[in-house]
Amino acid sequence: MQVKVSKGKGLIVDGPAKIEVQSGTGDLFGKPIRTGDIIVVKKAKSIGIHADTELCLEITGGLGFKVEEVDYSLISEEWVKIAEDLKKSEKPAIVFIVGDVDTGKTTLVTYLGNILCREGFKVAVLDEDVGQSDVGPPCTIGLGILTEPVAFLSDLKFIDGFFVGSTSPSGLIQRSIAGTKLMVEKAINLGSDVILIDTCGWVFGREARELKTMLFYLIKPTHVILVEKNEGELDHLVVPLRKLKLNVIKVKSPIRIRERNREERKFLREVMFRRYLENLREIKVSLSRVGVAYGILGSGKIADQQLVERVSAMLGVKVVHCERSEDYLLIVTENHEMINSLSLEAVKRVLQVRDVRIVSVSMIKDILVGLMDDKMNFLGVGIIKEYNPKSNELIIRTNVDENKIAIIQYGSIKISDETREEGKIRPWSI
Ligand SMILES: Nc1ncnc2c1ncn2[C@@H]1O[C@H](COP(=O)(O)OP(=O)(O)OP(=O)(O)O)[C@@H](O)[C@H]1O
Ligand SMILES: [Mg+2]
Repeated sequence: MQVKVSKGKGLIVDGPAKIEVQSGTGDLFGKPIRTGDIIVVKKAKSIGIHADTELCLEITGGLGFKVEEVDYSLISEEWVKIAEDLKKSEKPAIVFIVGDVDTGKTTLVTYLGNILCREGFKVAVLDEDVGQSDVGPPCTIGLGILTEPVAFLSDLKFIDGFFVGSTSPSGLIQRSIAGTKLMVEKAINLGSDVILIDTCGWVFGREARELKTMLFYLIKPTHVILVEKNEGELDHLVVPLRKLKLNVIKVKSPIRIRERNREERKFLREVMFRRYLENLREIKVSLSRVGVAYGILGSGKIADQQLVERVSAMLGVKVVHCERSEDYLLIVTENHEMINSLSLEAVKRVLQVRDVRIVSVSMIKDILVGLMDDKMNFLGVGIIKEYNPKSNELIIRTNVDENKIAIIQYGSIKISDETREEGKIRPWSI
């Protein structure tokens, strides 16, 4: 369908849609729009275009697609003022954007990034949201650099990441804190003028407060932008810091936000998984050769056959691998079986180990992993396809070069068919 947008008006397009600009000029959250441009809006995403001159657009849409013309500006005066402030502020500016889910945080980051990039500043975007990752794969804190204005943050150049291993930071906030700090350091070392930190929409409750507080302490943002639907809803995050003279700026969440439901969020994660899990090969990685993180498997001393048989006999199940460290005895069983706690207690007592973990070979399958090199650079993600207890090797589907892998970080989600989230596993369960 052909859509004409009069000068000064706005158009909101909910995807899936393909927009071809036939004539006119406009602005898409800070990215200039010209004749001939093609913008693809994925399902569950939406964009807003402001017409600088009359715009003539050819739009094709799929199921769920919607267009709406609005006669107010999609870019609020508050957004414009923040961009102006950031242009003038001391560099590097470290901007921490906080808000509840579906408040327009990512869109504000996109707008600020685009405007500052157009002014010639080196802009880094740090995506702390492990659930709705725009920069880098899901379950990962991503760092990207804007080399040109973009319609979506997912279009920008991915530089580095930190694997958290879960789609939610809950229970794992220390990983989000460490990862964000490391990525900020990296952005500074890269000579960024402005570092825009897009955070997850987790702002209520003890753990969320703790996460945000630690990030404030460590990152020392030069600007804290609070995106609020209702005035004062984020005060609990900054009132406790009142004496710190933080540069806190409050902005109202835009009127028309396209909220995403669970299914749509899952769909968007799958899109991102597909992107970072393509051209996969199966590689074999010996757990005796690499380091591991977020799990026990590969961190202990492999038990000899005699001990394996002894544990098998005590538990009454077929054990295929045991490894021992000062704090854990990890037992890998051939099949998934219920083991009574009395037998486990007996193993603990007889073998004098502090704690015992039992996993079956099938549990060590389909787990998402993060892969790091020997300088702790993020190499990519992969999926464990199999654990071979005889050779103590993991077979991983990934596009990462096996020779570069120094550390395997075990994730807490299982992925099937290279994209689909199949379920969760408890951190440190393998
Ligand atoms: N100013 C605006 N005008 C029109 N649409 C907007 C505006 N700001 C945001 N939106 C739309 O609302 C939706 C949600 O915005 P956005 O993704 O920026 O929110 P978010 O707070 O980052 O969400 P999440 O909590 O999932 O990270 C998006 O589809 C976006 O295009
Ligand atoms: Mg977001």
